[in-house]
Amino acid sequence: MKHYSLQKRSLVTGGAGFLGSHLCEQLLKDGCSVLCVDNFFTGARRNIEHLLGHPSFELLRHDITFPLYVEVDEIYNLACPASPVHYQFDPVQTTKTSVVGAVNMLGLAKRTKARILQASTSEVYGDPSVHPQPESYWGNVNPIGPRSCYDEGKRCAETLFFDYRRQHRMDIRVVRIFNTYGPRMHPRDGRVVSNFIVQALNGEDITIYGDGTQTRSFCYVDDLIDGMVRMMNNEADFIGPVNIGNPVEFTMLELAQAVLELTRSNSRIVYRELPHDDPRQRQPDIALAREHLKWEPRVALKSGLERTIEYFRQLLQIGR
Ligand SMILES: NC(=O)c1ccc[n+]([C@@H]2O[C@H](COP(=O)([O-])OP(=O)(O)OC[C@H]3O[C@@H](n4cnc5c(N)ncnc54)[C@H](O)[C@@H]3O)[C@@H](O)[C@H]2O)c1
Repeated sequence: MKHYSLQKRSLVTGGAGFLGSHLCEQLLKDGCSVLCVDNFFTGARRNIEHLLGHPSFELLRHDITFPLYVEVDEIYNLACPASPVHYQFDPVQTTKTSVVGAVNMLGLAKRTKARILQASTSEVYGDPSVHPQPESYWGNVNPIGPRSCYDEGKRCAETLFFDYRRQHRMDIRVVRIFNTYGPRMHPRDGRVVSNFIVQALNGEDITIYGDGTQTRSFCYVDDLIDGMVRMMNNEADFIGPVNIGNPVEFTMLELAQAVLELTRSNSRIVYRELPHDDPRQRQPDIALAREHLKWEPRVALKSGLERTIEYFRQLLQIGR
């Protein structure tokens, strides 16, 4: 259906989640009209409360495993629980969200001729034998383990995106997101940055799994959203998959120490056994993003942590 307004209509699935809420905010700033779709499994109204009065913002409670009939110009498909505690809570629903959700959103994009971007993940590389991981690496993923509902669901979603392109010549984009942190992360998602900050602010022991020498790279949310929007808006024939993440690596021990320093907490660091299937090392190769999107992360860990700590300080005070 043709639309008489010149405003671009963007659909963001998972828009009430951590990344989705920042994306909605950015798209509104860019002048788009935004339809945020979420079933509130891990998302929260408080993440988008400040956008509810905006004339170009609309919120719809909907589960993307069911078809959706709306008119849009572009779709950012972010709906999916993203941390192990949440995606393992109902693993069948997790796979359905990735796979059936992708089919539904691709069907919608096909009907409306919208461009569609998939929020994929570094987990498609599994426990990588190549370091850092370029997009050309096919991954080392366990298909039957407790993390597989997420990893394989996301891999299958990528397959669907590329098959819809081959079969129906659709306008797709795929970004592979590496560990991202920032305000509006779920306080109990078990991810390392939020865990450490909440523990430090509550004066509880900071738990490190393993000996603390395993490394991770962390991308601040503003950088990630910038990369995602650049990918959606790039008019060249660059459809991805493209890694978006921060290649600067830190050990878990270094992260814990940075959090302790910035929160001025007296918490102690304690060590626990490493969970099943936990990759020892993950680091994005961002050469493609640099070349095609002229993108690279700008926010240093210290300043990103400061903003995130401020958010959690307020959240814990409100007690929600
Ligand atoms: N945050 C990261 O570090 C990271 C890393 C890699 C990939 N990703 C991907 O980015 C996306 C967003 O992640 P996030 O960190 O914001 O997680 P999040 O859990 O905060 O957001 C996901 C949102 O999707 C919603 N949702 C879940 N299932 C749904 C369904 N069936 N229908 C409609 N809505 C549904 C949730 O309620 C939530 O609001 C996910 O697809 C995730 O896999 C995130």
